[in-house]
Amino acid sequence: MTDYLETNRLNWDDRAELHATDMTGRYPIARVLSGGSSLHALEAGEIGDVTGKDIVHLQCHIGLDTLSLKHLGALSVTGLDFSPNAISAARDFAGRAGTQATFVEASVYDAVAVLERQTYDMVFVTWGAIHWLPDIRRWAQVVARLLRPGGRLYLLDGHPQMFQYEGVDGGLSLAYGWRTPADAPLLFEEGHTYTGDPRPLTHRRMYEWFHPLSDIVNALVQAGLRLDFLNEHEILTWRHYPGMIETGEDQFELGPGLPRIPLSFSIGARRPA
Ligand SMILES: C[S@@+](CC[C@H](N)C(=O)[O-])C[C@H]1O[C@@H](n2cnc3c(N)ncnc32)[C@H](O)[C@@H]1O
Repeated sequence: MTDYLETNRLNWDDRAELHATDMTGRYPIARVLSGGSSLHALEAGEIGDVTGKDIVHLQCHIGLDTLSLKHLGALSVTGLDFSPNAISAARDFAGRAGTQATFVEASVYDAVAVLERQTYDMVFVTWGAIHWLPDIRRWAQVVARLLRPGGRLYLLDGHPQMFQYEGVDGGLSLAYGWRTPADAPLLFEEGHTYTGDPRPLTHRRMYEWFHPLSDIVNALVQAGLRLDFLNEHEILTWRHYPGMIETGEDQFELGPGLPRIPLSFSIGARRPA
């Protein structure tokens, strides 16, 4: 398992370096550095009021959303990611923005230990996160332990059904099973990152695990959380299939003529008070 995660960490370290010096416009660095927000309309509309909240952002990448949550009124923000390049970029951005934030380099699975048993009003996890994790039940236990009584999880990610397909000849072709065993991840290789940056990746391999929606929901329930909502959406923030069309800033949908499937989902859940 460690080897899979180490391979992913090397891949994400490469990507973080490219994303931190992004010139494609995919990451709104200047906007966040000047006190603005990188959150999309979808999550901004669903997270609820963050004013005065202590928030931990798991898999925070280069920290733009973490800093945005502080700019939106959070009392404290902590970002956690296992990529040293991502954490170093996030700290650099926090300094340049003059925004108080804590960034911690660690695996999600070590979050409780490294955050010294601190608890939070909100755990924030979005866009491209849980399919990098082999064990969704262990993840849900981490989330539950990071939350104070009454604290909330906000999760927004690619839909498991969407991940099962590949774009072929302008259509969608069913390509992957709905449940990836922890010890048999899917191996992908990409020469470039998803931003369109022409600079190549050195570490091209990455391992992914697709988790059924029922596994995600049941993992959270079994960890002691109560569901506030489960929503499915027809939009994504990246072009997952070649035939997708851009319908807004960082917003992609299936083109006309394609049968609709959910492309992303969101969950609000809370630890009972
Ligand atoms: C697509 S990015 C998430 C983007 C994020 N939504 C944001 O705010 O920009 C995925 C992140 O997950 C991190 N990651 C992947 N597996 C991880 C793990 N086991 N523990 C901690 N971070 C992990 C990667 O380093 C990467 O920064």
